[in-house]
Parts: sequence; structure tokens; C-alpha cells
Amino acid sequence: MQVLGTIKGFRAARRDAAGPVGLVPTMGALHAGHLSLVRRARAACSTVALSIFVNPTQFGPGEDLARYPRPIERDLQLAEDAGVDLVFHPSAEEMYPPGFATFIEVGGPASRWEGEHRPGHFRGVATVVAKLLVITTPQQAFFGEKDFQQLTVVRRMAADLALPVEIIACPIVREADGLALSSRNVYLSPAERPHGAALYRALQEGRRRVAAGERQASTIRAAILAVLREAPGVRPEYVAIVEPQSLEPLERIEGPARALIAARLGSVRLIDNVSLADEGLL
Ligand code: PAF
Repeated sequence: MQVLGTIKGFRAARRDAAGPVGLVPTMGALHAGHLSLVRRARAACSTVALSIFVNPTQFGPGEDLARYPRPIERDLQLAEDAGVDLVFHPSAEEMYPPGFATFIEVGGPASRWEGEHRPGHFRGVATVVAKLLVITTPQQAFFGEKDFQQLTVVRRMAADLALPVEIIACPIVREADGLALSSRNVYLSPAERPHGAALYRALQEGRRRVAAGERQASTIRAAILAVLREAPGVRPEYVAIVEPQSLEPLERIEGPARALIAARLGSVRLIDNVSLADEGLL
């Protein structure tokens, strides 16, 4: 496994790489969710590239940029064990040199939900992902469904800019109690941690309602919120029932639909989502 810290160094290594390249973009603090993306990439591509970069432009003021976990030695060991070929681990100066002034602004699916609660977040995500794609020139790039809105925004950007890459969605990996894996779960205190499973329980209640025949989005949303509110310390930020490509809210569920949640638990902000109407559910 080669670890490259510069764009020039990565490009040189990339030139020698065999066959189709798969990119797994991450901010490090790797967990089983990231490793499932690497496995997917490993199965599909001859060369697997992993980027590890805590991207400052996607953090808002008062967010956790300074305390975001950066266990780089552990990450490199996990990457090597998972069969990664190339790691791109640039500094902030390498990605944002003095005078940097170009950003990508996605409208549409970036506008609501995380876009409203974290202003500027998707501008930072879209910009860094576009730059990572330009540097690494993968045939495929792998994103987890955990950040469903991010996945949708990246897909929109790749389509709109005709980027020559296939965006591959990978399923959420969960703890035994349903909590979606996230690098931020380490912030949960032992007392808070069990209540983190409330998000998944609430989403399951949404699925159960749809499976039982409920089609009114407001009713399903209310059922999800009720489960969230039962959990001690969980403060919902939003619960949305959306069309999965536009992320516009639905009034009734007549086709594909996704439920999205953001909630605070203590000082930690958690997000999660499920498909409400996948095959066989309607
Ligand atoms: O999901 C993440 O870890 C980040 O948002 C990403 C896609 C690596 C961009 O910084």
C-alpha cells in the first residue's frame, strides 16, 4: 500500500495503477462502514484508492472540526489490512492552497434538511469530492447510504458536471441495536449510547406503518417522531419523508420514498435514514 500526501505524488502512483480504479473517499476514523465500502471497491476494481482528509470547508462554525478524531496510524493499518492499494492523505494546505477561491454549489437535493441545518456543508462536500475525483480519476466512487443526502448531492453533481465516474451507493452498516456506524459515535457517553438506537427504532416504526398500508406522509412522520421523543435525551432536528432523488417532501407514499432523521443526543448530532417503500413493501 502506498500513502501519498501530495497531488503530484498521487497522480504519479495513479499512472502506474492497474485497471479500473475505485475511490473510497473518507475523513478517516475508519470503522466497519468504511471497510464495507473498501470491500465493495475491492470486489469491483483492480486498484482501490482511499482518501483520508478531514475537510475543513464542510464544517460550520461551532461544529466539531477541531475535535474530529484523526487516528491516522490505526486508519492506515485498517486500510492495509482491507487491501487498499493507494491512500491519498493530503494536508489542508495541499487541498486548499493560499488563494483558493473556487467552490461548487449544488442546488436541488442540497437545499433542504442538512442543507438548512448545516449552511455551507454541501458546498464544502461538493467541492472536496469534485477535487478528489479530479485528482484520483476513479472509474467508480463508493459512498455510504448513511449520509443519504450527501450521496444524492454527489450523484447530482456528478451528473450535472458530466464527471466520468460511476457513483456507487453502499448499504448502511449498523451496530447490533441498530445504531448506524459513524465516526462521530465515539462522542456518545456510555449513558447516552443506548439511546442512539432510537433513530433506527423510529425509522423501523415508519417502515412498519407503510407495510401496514399507511400512505399519508404526515401520519408516518408523526409515528417516527413519537418513537424518537420517547427516548431520553434525544432531541429531533428534523424527520422528513422524501422522494429519494429530489429529496423533496412527499405528501403521500405512492412510490419510492425515504425517511430521513437528524437528532441530537447530548452534544452529538446523529443522522439516519431508511427506504420506506422498497421492493415488495407497497
Ligand atoms: O462522508 C464523508 O466522510 C465526507 O463527507 C467526504 C465524502 C469524504 C467528503 O469530505
